[in-house]
Amino acid sequence: MKYNKIALIGMMGSGKSSVAKCLSRLTDISLFDTDFLFEKQFQISIKDFFNKFGENEFRQCEGKLLKDIALNNDKFILSTGGGIILSEDNRNLLFNGDIFTIYLSANTDTIYNRIKDDFSRPLLLVENPKQEIEKILNERKKYYSMAQKTIITDAKTIDEITEEIKWII
Ligand code: S3P
Repeated sequence: MKYNKIALIGMMGSGKSSVAKCLSRLTDISLFDTDFLFEKQFQISIKDFFNKFGENEFRQCEGKLLKDIALNNDKFILSTGGGIILSEDNRNLLFNGDIFTIYLSANTDTIYNRIKDDFSRPLLLVENPKQEIEKILNERKKYYSMAQKTIITDAKTIDEITEEIKWII
């Protein structure tokens, strides 16, 4: 393996958590998942946290979690929340060359089809989720594309995506 620190970024529903799990199993490198760790640390779902404390507070805590993982571990497979790249501090950590960051890209239709029956994402609990996905994706593309590698995930299974990544890490 060429890289010890690998992070997956991308939109909600792009498969980051599932692919990270498979990669961790395959490589025997520890798995970290910011969404999972957030809910474990605060003992509250992200959806409820957004409702109670708002997105800004969530972003602060998410940033602290990322920093803690990135600076205190020599090896990891990291799955991140879709909005992690919104913060400049987080981008400095993810794109400074120390971590090999992979963007799992998916188009609006793919994302919509993957998440349409899952109501755990506060940002998509709106009247027209598809339109919202399109808007969020357009706002974030410039940041996601800062990743060292982009993997197109449309029409691919988790195993196929994992297999593709296996050959580049
Ligand atoms: C978010 C994505 C979610 C979670 C939160 C906000 C986002 O994670 O962190 O609901 O801003 O895109 P997933 O990308 O794992 O769904």
